[in-house]
Amino acid sequence: MQDIVIDTPTQKSVIHCGKGSFEQFAKGLDGKKLFVVTDSNVYRIYRDLIEKTFKNSPVHVIKAGEASKTYTTLIGILKHMLESGATRAYTVVALGGGVVGDIAGLAASLFMRGVKLIQIPTTLLSQVDSSVGGKTAVDLNNVKNAIGAFYQPGEVIVDPMFLETLPKREIRCGLGEIIKYGALDKEIYTTLCANSDRLFDMEFLESITAPCIQHKANVVAGDEKDLNGLRKTLNLGHTTGHAFELYYKRKSHGEFVLIGTYYELIIAQMQGVCGGEYADNLKMLIGKVIKMPVYDNAQKAALAAKFDKKNDEQSTVSMIVPAKEGRCAEIKMPLDEYVKTIGEIAEEIKEKK
Ligand SMILES: NC(=O)c1ccc[n+]([C@@H]2O[C@H](COP(=O)([O-])OP(=O)(O)OC[C@H]3O[C@@H](n4cnc5c(N)ncnc54)[C@H](O)[C@@H]3O)[C@@H](O)[C@H]2O)c1
Repeated sequence: MQDIVIDTPTQKSVIHCGKGSFEQFAKGLDGKKLFVVTDSNVYRIYRDLIEKTFKNSPVHVIKAGEASKTYTTLIGILKHMLESGATRAYTVVALGGGVVGDIAGLAASLFMRGVKLIQIPTTLLSQVDSSVGGKTAVDLNNVKNAIGAFYQPGEVIVDPMFLETLPKREIRCGLGEIIKYGALDKEIYTTLCANSDRLFDMEFLESITAPCIQHKANVVAGDEKDLNGLRKTLNLGHTTGHAFELYYKRKSHGEFVLIGTYYELIIAQMQGVCGGEYADNLKMLIGKVIKMPVYDNAQKAALAAKFDKKNDEQSTVSMIVPAKEGRCAEIKMPLDEYVKTIGEIAEEIKEKK
């Protein structure tokens, strides 16, 4: 087991990583006032564990899936907290994937102007990424994460035991974010290349989780509220990923991160920002995890990139792209040129199939 600490001006977060971290956490719960939020899948699979661990605490179960990330669900959690007699002395426990973590985190930030928060991520994506760093949110009018807050958890419990029940598709989603870290961090890149044939292997995933969290922890400690440009590097591949996510919907966040990274890598190559063996290796890693889908209407989908939070104005699209080993770069492109280029890349993928 390993502890990673993020010391930000608002809160010290301790991330307990490794097998046994949940058991260890469960031992220290006597007398604690907890309000647990989870989703319908996690509750179905882990009902016995939840009832045994949190025996005297209210448990709020939201419907699994991104469609639950709404203010209606958020208000449902807050109402349940009030009705069950929760006070400022309570701690919200978010037990689930990124959807549960984002929405329960926001509930914790709002209830009585803020109560303590513990994240227990149960998907690979939430373990390596979303449970760490304090971004919480719900979607609004089809805009992802439109309402949210920075709200650091006091503790994060990252136990790989939860990954044993995770469908392969969800592992793929987590690998999307892991490959993103590979494009940002030389050591993670080298490890991924050396283990490219065992990316789905549980032992490998356990071993790569802490380095990814450590990378994010370093970034968050240097730019907790996304103000000085450091934190936006974690958005690599996300401009196109989010635009496609809004339009095509049928895949999950992590899969769209991989697709977005692939498209933006090609843009980086076209602009001479990235190239050679490094670009080929990143493509190889992406190819080990996902087959590039053939998209019609890619230009229409790309238009949504005008809403990206990194843009200074809607007419210029900002992207964080891979550059060299351990280094990324920002590319800014006029919206019409970006849309045209995305259309061309989609056509090329179609022709190759
Ligand atoms: N806050 C951040 O910094 C941040 C970063 C990245 C992504 N996100 C957000 O995270 C969300 C995606 O997170 P996600 O990929 O974890 O999705 P998710 O929470 O929807 O979980 C994916 C699926 O796995 C199921 N599941 C969860 N744990 C399981 C387990 N142990 N065994 C079996 N099934 C399990 C869930 O019920 C769900 O069906 C998106 O809303 C995205 O915007 C937030």
